[in-house]
Amino acid sequence: MIRSIVRGVGSALPKRIMKNADFEDMVETSDEWIAQRTGIRQRHIADDSETTASLGEAAARAALDNAGLTPADIDLIILATSTPNNTFPATAVEIQHRLGMKHGFAFDMQAVCSGFVYAVTTADLYVRGGLAKRVLVIGSETFSRILDWSDRSTCVLFGDGAGALVLEAAEGEGTVADRGVLATSLRSDGSHKEKLYVDGGPSTTKTVGFLRMEGREVFKHAVGMITDVIEKTFWDAAITAEDLDWFVPHQANKRIIDASAKKLGIAEEKVVITVDRHGNTSAASVPLALAVAVEDGRIKRGDLVLLEAMGGGFTWGAVLLRW
Ligand code: ACO
Repeated sequence: MIRSIVRGVGSALPKRIMKNADFEDMVETSDEWIAQRTGIRQRHIADDSETTASLGEAAARAALDNAGLTPADIDLIILATSTPNNTFPATAVEIQHRLGMKHGFAFDMQAVCSGFVYAVTTADLYVRGGLAKRVLVIGSETFSRILDWSDRSTCVLFGDGAGALVLEAAEGEGTVADRGVLATSLRSDGSHKEKLYVDGGPSTTKTVGFLRMEGREVFKHAVGMITDVIEKTFWDAAITAEDLDWFVPHQANKRIIDASAKKLGIAEEKVVITVDRHGNTSAASVPLALAVAVEDGRIKRGDLVLLEAMGGGFTWGAVLLRW
């Protein structure tokens, strides 16, 4: 059977780093409060010249270099983002143009922080369906542009950045020993909209709006939703937590990550954490974390890797793959 294997990974971060202490002059908060409640110590913030498209392009180029490929080898680009450069056209198409591509096709996917697991799942379907041979799957966000910088309960949590994977069609045996995407599971439930949303949009306010969140409510649902979808993925692939080499969760809050890993019986040393240095970069957080763990030599070819995310909507999902 055809599998979607990871051929390359790359990332890009804005130059400017904002430390927790930098917020102390802006809102009533402290480095200690932010670090204790979230595990975040710093985040990268885009300057005016850095956008979702430019960061996405840089991550895509890094992933292509890592794969030893060029844009000519790609047939499809899927960009996971909730902070597009424009309402339309899709920022994926802008990235396609920036990469000098006149062939293939590109589109955006919007599932907030779950965007990257939605995009990998979709890319896998295109590959297995024979509609694309090589897909650039990008998560790129500039959440700093939709933050209310006077709201201490949200502005300290998010950061900007991008990560990308090149997925490629390869023959597999149809077992969990195969390389590539092995199992995926997506969920959504729109009844939770008010707990995490942006209070603007073209069809309602005709503005972009600002992120609004009932943090405690999100926290309350997160661990249960994450663990449910992961247990389903384990069941579908007939594996257990012990079979995993690496758990690469969405990086929203270290307490959510720790509680989920504990509930699932995933050993602490298998969990990739980058929330301390990136903050919550929404759809970019999982590929950014993957890029870090590949670059530092933790994730190696043949490793069994579990990706997970949960975010606005609510949306949530998991992807199991062998690197
Ligand atoms: N600095 C200092 N105090 C603060 C800050 C801050 N930055 N923010 C809130 N507080 C105060 C609150 O006002 C509150 O004060 P009060 O008791 O006087 O009312 C107190 O701290 C406690 O607030 P809680 O919201 O109960 O704090 P909690 O322990 O729940 O932590 C947090 C807040 C970090 C937001 C947590 O709820 C959380 O991480 N929730 C999940 C958020 C998340 O993961 N969101 C992303 C989902 S992904 C996506 O789709 C974007």
